Amino acid sequence: MEKIVSLCKRRGFVFPGSEIYGGLANSWDYGPLGVELKNNIKQLWWNRFVHRRDDVVGIDAALIMNPRVWEASGHLQNFTDPLVECKNCHSRFRADHIGNLHEDGTLDLKGVKCPQCKKEDWAPAKQFNLMFKTFIGPAEEEANVAYFRPETAQAMFVDFKNVLDTTRRTLPFGIAQVGKAFRNEITPGNFIFRTREFEQMEIEYFFAKPVHDDDWKSIFEHWRKEMHSWMEHDLRLNMEHVHELEVADGERAHYSKRTIDFEFDFPFGKKELYGLAYRTDFDLRNHFKEAPYKDQQTGEEFWPHTIEPTWGVDRSVLAVLSNSYTEEDDGKGGQRIFLKLPPRLAPYKAAIFPLLPNKPELVARAREVYEQLRKKFFVTWDDRGNIGKRYYSQDEIGTPFCITVDFDSLENNEVTVRDRDTAKQERIAIDKLEEYLAAKIV
Ligand code: GAP
Repeated sequence: MEKIVSLCKRRGFVFPGSEIYGGLANSWDYGPLGVELKNNIKQLWWNRFVHRRDDVVGIDAALIMNPRVWEASGHLQNFTDPLVECKNCHSRFRADHIGNLHEDGTLDLKGVKCPQCKKEDWAPAKQFNLMFKTFIGPAEEEANVAYFRPETAQAMFVDFKNVLDTTRRTLPFGIAQVGKAFRNEITPGNFIFRTREFEQMEIEYFFAKPVHDDDWKSIFEHWRKEMHSWMEHDLRLNMEHVHELEVADGERAHYSKRTIDFEFDFPFGKKELYGLAYRTDFDLRNHFKEAPYKDQQTGEEFWPHTIEPTWGVDRSVLAVLSNSYTEEDDGKGGQRIFLKLPPRLAPYKAAIFPLLPNKPELVARAREVYEQLRKKFFVTWDDRGNIGKRYYSQDEIGTPFCITVDFDSLENNEVTVRDRDTAKQERIAIDKLEEYLAAKIV
């Protein structure tokens, strides 16, 4: 993990937030390469789950919603974590992270010592609401309290009728959103794994009131497979590191009848990457108490049920980075570090080099290649140091192809294309480069 964090900082993927002021605990900023990787993940997701499906549409809602949303959704009452405080050193912890959780959902802290001062002197656990509070307008009064959304999901429920009326969708259909969510986590940590400000990609998939159990189970199964396919084919995670956890009765969120957590073997252990939940009609019933959905054909009134697949963006970035980080013997007594990123996710698709930076004719031809390719792909230019150093530098940030213009290129219009993963080189005609990259960047 330290190596990943250090590479991220060194190469501009992720920096500590507010660093020049001593940082802000567990806040992180995505740098020039990190934002590209993150955007590529979000675009791939949107493309797969919104553009390439007939039954899902997208929205982009406000972060601060009417506080009554959180009353109806149950978050004001239930979106809490058990907090314990050590009476000796006053450190605070999530009780369920350090205590013994019994099968009936109760927790006890007998025999548990404070991770900070090693004493066992606990104040009784309290429920702590994770929503970030703020005030709307200049007066900091109770009447003006509002919350930053703790999940993107509620906007899909609140906008359900508007989407229905404006898109002529009929059940079943889904609403998708990608955006920030905020949680005042008691114990954030592990780099970008658990932070207080993060991004989610969520879909609320609405369907008619189930008559048989199978009616919701088959939809649940569909989304389970879709999530697997996303991890395997889009993020190209090593699926041996992905595990499913059936969340037990007492441990599910207040709205869920069934939840599966998809866990991933992160460098710091097996932890939740994504979730899939059957939220029943809980949310729409609470938001649209007086105005249920009316079936156009039968006239029946009911509240549609929802299956919710949810993906953390930052955890996707971390899983992809952990999955791609590779160290290899370079055969010359050193080590080659490279990020084996799927080409579609890599920040730069290719790097273009003139063999020598001080030969104007090479630079000019390489520049033409660069200008030609950048119309289609996000590519970079490098003319510093020698070719070996440039390869090393591009490997470390996961650039799948390095293209070198040399003296032969001036004669035969071919360039050397070097593959990041195999380090193999081949000669490709300049006018075939676009086609070559397009075929490889899948
Ligand atoms: N709408 C359902 C929901 O929000 P969740 O399991 O609480 O469910 C969904 O969150 C996903 O959001 C998680 O699987 C994880 O990927 C991501 N996530 C949750 N809390 C996070 C945090 N503090 N930091 C980073 N990602 C987080």
